[in-house]
Amino acid sequence: MPNIILLSGDGIGPEIMAEAGRVLNRVNEQHALGISTEQCLIGGAAIDATGEPLPDETLTKSKDADAVLFGAVGGPKWDSLPMHKRPEKGLLKIRAGMDLFANLRPALLYPELASASTLREEVVSGLDLLIVRELIGGIYFGEPRGIEGEPGQRVGYNTDRYSEPEIERIGRIAFDAAMARDKKLCSVDKANVLEVTVLWREVMERLSQEYPDVELWHMYVDNAAMQLVRAPKQFDVMVTGNLFGDILSDAAAMLTGSIGMLPSASLNSQKQGLYEPCHGSAPDIAGQDLANPLATILSVSMMLLHSLNAPKAAQAIEDAVKSVLASGLRTKDIATGASGEQIVGCRAMGEAVLKALT
Ligand code: IPM
Ligand code: MG
Repeated sequence: MPNIILLSGDGIGPEIMAEAGRVLNRVNEQHALGISTEQCLIGGAAIDATGEPLPDETLTKSKDADAVLFGAVGGPKWDSLPMHKRPEKGLLKIRAGMDLFANLRPALLYPELASASTLREEVVSGLDLLIVRELIGGIYFGEPRGIEGEPGQRVGYNTDRYSEPEIERIGRIAFDAAMARDKKLCSVDKANVLEVTVLWREVMERLSQEYPDVELWHMYVDNAAMQLVRAPKQFDVMVTGNLFGDILSDAAAMLTGSIGMLPSASLNSQKQGLYEPCHGSAPDIAGQDLANPLATILSVSMMLLHSLNAPKAAQAIEDAVKSVLASGLRTKDIATGASGEQIVGCRAMGEAVLKALT
């Protein structure tokens, strides 16, 4: 019996997770998946209840589960806490604690939303790219780190580091993903300045000999940022480290009209995964029924595909989302003002996906 942990978190987290939970329950019944779910605490909600952004119980239960569905964490209420007590630490710790090194962030443009992008339609129409981001290494986790010294003279520092095995395992995920797609892989680095990425480039080159069918090329991260907004359709799969992947995936998300549409999967080597929307907790719109639940609903679809071996149920959700968009329903973030659009809230959007599933 598959068991799923639900982590709503903060801000719009509870609203989007409520809709995703309803969708999960529906496909669970329809496809007789036998899934059971349990709610646990993370982020600011966990800090308020226990003093810790990731209570031990949440990590233990998540490690034992088949998959974790995550909403969002963070908000102004907790912004002044010291770094190790912030809500974001909860997310970083669960990623590391579950060994979720491979973060898959697909950026797919739904034809109905082509005009919602800030880029011209011909630049983005048909866009379908996948960013493979290393998630538990690099400068996010490298030691030493800290802020030291006398007031007025303090120094802040972090360490960007990757070992060959770490680069190799994320490289394999990316090459395998490219094999299943258009067989084009762009590795993003800053090998003109940073040694850590000189090594990154070397390992990618070495791996490419095992994947003769995949065309591998390298791009400096500054150029990659530019190319993503200049001609994004040149990319199929991009692979990069933790920090560059964080930045580039936000840029890629915007190509698709709204970051409110993008799901993501974070996997370990047992294909156990944490699934989350790419967007954050959006405290400015929390509790107002304005959030777009589709990224979280699409994260359920990724979860069914990658961790629960239920491709039919995954496809059913994708189809339902497509049909809802085709019918003209839009949350505010994806509205373009075109005729035939109907603006709805988070709850009604979730309701429409449920209806489309039946
Ligand atoms: C993301 C987020 C996180 C990250 C934050 C919330 C820690 O921006 O998932 O992209 O930087 O990885
Ligand atoms: Mg980010």
